[in-house]
Parts: sequence; structure tokens; C-alpha cells
Amino acid sequence: MNNRFLDAMNFRRACRDFDPAKPVNEEELNYILEVGRLSPSSMGMEQWHFLVARGDAMKKKLRAACNDQKQVEQASVVVVILAKTADIHPDSPRFREILHARFGTQWEKRLAYYRSYYDKVNPAEWSVAQCHLAAANMMTGAAFIGIDSCPVGAFDPAKLMETVGADPGRYVPALVIPFGHRAIEPKPRTRLAFEEVVTLLD
Ligand SMILES: Cc1cc2nc3c(=O)[nH]c(=O)nc-3n(C[C@H](O)[C@H](O)[C@H](O)COP(=O)(O)O)c2cc1C
Repeated sequence: MNNRFLDAMNFRRACRDFDPAKPVNEEELNYILEVGRLSPSSMGMEQWHFLVARGDAMKKKLRAACNDQKQVEQASVVVVILAKTADIHPDSPRFREILHARFGTQWEKRLAYYRSYYDKVNPAEWSVAQCHLAAANMMTGAAFIGIDSCPVGAFDPAKLMETVGADPGRYVPALVIPFGHRAIEPKPRTRLAFEEVVTLLD
């Protein structure tokens, strides 16, 4: 089976050594961001906001906020995904605007349904989980066009928020993703066996 999606899955590795001389161009970057924007999200709330860093000074500061991980500074572009907290609250003005636009006269019915769900989850964790879906799509989408990435979750949340100037009353940081081109080939991949991670039910 010729499967280009699987090829991209196999190509994608957590890249810790980017070639600083090989950039991600504007068109490629916009494609990666669009893949993120089109991702699925619980209740269709699009809980993400994408911050894009290309300048050397900002990438250096982001590296410091990410436990000094060098790939964050080496990469051509770094996307910081923020997870919304305030704007997904059922009483927030932005949430109400979205409901009106999408559901018209049915908005109050939808609000009641949303609130009953929202009240049962940890909102910040729920929001971050959706951002991770967008992140996975962006990394696989990048791999599809031969661009490398590394999901970076080891960061100092307060330092990261301060570095990017984000309001902690509105967001929590979800993930940092440097994108670029690998400088060296990665070590062979390790994965648990198919049989260990898959159970067929009757
Ligand atoms: C949520 C998340 C956070 C991660 N954080 C880091 C990180 O801070 N630094 C890093 O080098 N790799 C990080 N990784 C990458 C994993 O270590 C890597 O995906 C895993 O070892 C499997 O390797 P592969 O991606 O090359 O298949 C993270 C992965 C995920 C999904």
C-alpha cells in the first residue's frame, strides 16, 4: 500500500538538532498554522491560540523558558500554543458571541448543554488536551512536507507566559513546538509492539 500519510508518520521524529541554515518559509509556516486551525476540538471551541516566534532574540528567551533545550533556539520558527481558559467560560462575552454566531436563536439551548459539560471538566486541562490535538496535526502536517519538529512540554509555565507576554488570566501554556530541518538523522525509533498497545474487542 502506498500511503503518504504513514510515510509522514514515519518521517516525523522529535528533532533535537536543527540545521539553523535551513529555514521554514512563509508558505510552509502558514500551511502548518492552517493545519492547526483546522483541527478538531471538543465542543468545537478551538481552545488554542498560536504564537509564532521567528526572531533570534525571542527564540533565545524561549529556550531559557524551556529548560535551556537547544532545539528551541536552533529551529527556524517556534510556535507556542496557548490554551484558552477565560474565553471558554460559559459566562464570557467572547463565548456568548461565538454561540450567537453559530447557533442563532438556538444559542440558549446550546449554552445549557455546554454548561452541563463544562461544569464536569477541569477547564484548563480540557483546553490543553485540545491544543495537543492541534499540535499533533501540525507536526504530522509539517512532516508531510518534509519539515521537522519537536514537541516541547518541559517548560517553566510562569517564565514562558512572561516571555511571550501572555495574560495568565486568559491562557495556560500548552506546548512549544520548534519547526525546521534536521541537522542529523535520528536514532532508530522505539515503540511498544502492536499487540501490546492494541486489544481487539468482540
Ligand atoms: C506532550 C509532549 C511533551 C514533550 N516534551 C518534550 C521536551 O520537552 N523535550 C524533548 O526533547 N522532547 C519532548 N517530547 C518528545 C518525546 O520525547 C518523543 O515524542 C518521544 O520520545 C517519542 O519519540 P519520537 O517523537 O521521535 O517518535 C515531548 C512529547 C510530547 C508528546
